[in-house]
Amino acid sequence: MIPVAGQDCTIIGDCAMTGQRPRSQTPPNAMHHPTLPRMTHWLALAVLAAASTLYGAADTPRTAGNLPAASDRPDMTWFTDARLGIFIHWGVYSEGKGSESWAFHSGDMPYDTYIAQAKTFTAANYQPERWAELFSAAGARYAVLTSKHHDGFALWDTAQNKLNAKDGSPAGRDLVGPFCAALRKEGLKVGLYFSHLDWSHPDYASVLREGGTPEAERKNRFSYPQGPENPAAWNRFLAFHRAQLKEIAERYHPDLLWFDGDWERSAAQWRMPELRRQLKAWLPSVILNSRMAGYGDYATPEQALPVHPPAGPWELCMTINDSWGYQAKDRNFKSVRQIVRLLTECASQDGNLLLDVGPRSDGTITPEQEKILRDLGRWTHKNAEALYGKTAGIPKDYYYGPSLLNKARDVLYLICYDRPVDGLYLKGIRNTITRASVVGGGDLACRRFMRAEWAGQPGIAIIDLPAAAVDPDATVVKLELQGPLDLLGDY
Ligand code: GLC
Repeated sequence: MIPVAGQDCTIIGDCAMTGQRPRSQTPPNAMHHPTLPRMTHWLALAVLAAASTLYGAADTPRTAGNLPAASDRPDMTWFTDARLGIFIHWGVYSEGKGSESWAFHSGDMPYDTYIAQAKTFTAANYQPERWAELFSAAGARYAVLTSKHHDGFALWDTAQNKLNAKDGSPAGRDLVGPFCAALRKEGLKVGLYFSHLDWSHPDYASVLREGGTPEAERKNRFSYPQGPENPAAWNRFLAFHRAQLKEIAERYHPDLLWFDGDWERSAAQWRMPELRRQLKAWLPSVILNSRMAGYGDYATPEQALPVHPPAGPWELCMTINDSWGYQAKDRNFKSVRQIVRLLTECASQDGNLLLDVGPRSDGTITPEQEKILRDLGRWTHKNAEALYGKTAGIPKDYYYGPSLLNKARDVLYLICYDRPVDGLYLKGIRNTITRASVVGGGDLACRRFMRAEWAGQPGIAIIDLPAAAVDPDATVVKLELQGPLDLLGDY
């Protein structure tokens, strides 16, 4: 092990703290569905803004990027400490012949052909304990299962209709209960995905979107009425929607509800303030994602890594290849190195990564997906101390890369994706660095460069990172500081 050059890292110790990290201005979150035209997004924001006048201050609808005040949020510590979750898209589409729900909605497959895939949805080799073990091995702290996607096929034995795994497929049983039990046994938190919209329900396509463009909307019979609106049918749909959610809440007690498909109706039409109150009454500590037309607890950017992090808690959901559900032809898997990069980019900006896998209809996760998760686990386990329960690090002006801090702010973790030619450069740190090391490895040499004590300049800390210490996926360098982080402010 290379000894730490402690003396070289020692600098002026009696300077004042420089204050909090400046947070960048966050642009409003883009509408999460990539296929929706951008215009629709702005239209939806306008509808939400208009609708806000209908409610008192406490019930003011919010856009996805404009979440409830922190005081209105549940305790989210387990979530913000977790950093990695696994998303599972599993349903009748897991035959692998077409995309989840969108296959019939966008006309790629007739509805009858699509829904007939339920006949081969066997779940014959479904062993949720194996899933839970695999997710845990990957380093995930929670997982989210599609209890019901936009196609309306429920994975639990809902009493509200027959379009479910027990009554409508050879699986013939509740699949959600065993999932929740297996996760809990493994010490993972339980998340359930639920699509508000339901393109199979006869009462769903009964009203137009408030403030929408009727002619454009009428083009799709699964979403909107083709003739006159039927508010009574919409009310029946809402009663069904609530009844299904009540079943989920009372039977499975999820820690997190991951909603989707809010965009086809306004917050007022969904009666979102009422729904939020209802969910919080059934499940007082439940965490709700943002797809509640502005009434969720955290933001959910999708597929694209945000350049600037959304305000408040957030989670990037991302597919392991290019598909949410299992697609036999999709071989475009992300490399473990890419996943580690995205995970650390999120974590270093106080965000989580929700990595999606698509099991097959029989309930097995393909060897390719399993290998990626296990290889990811090599990195997450090695670097666990730098990942879980850590917070955003320092601004990029000080270190050209992501970084994280422990909660006491006296340990700084620098993430390094490349092989440094001349060591890692860390500018403007006034603390003494008492020890530099590689997480999961040995100590590193650290020296000061360009210190100008007479001008109050702490100079640049250069940390040598020999080739042998470099991790193939991302190296994490740990700097133990004397006292809480103290960065030089503006010159
Ligand atoms: C989008 C898609 C949906 C997918 C979801 C995951 O909303 O419509 O198919 O399940 O993203 O975030």
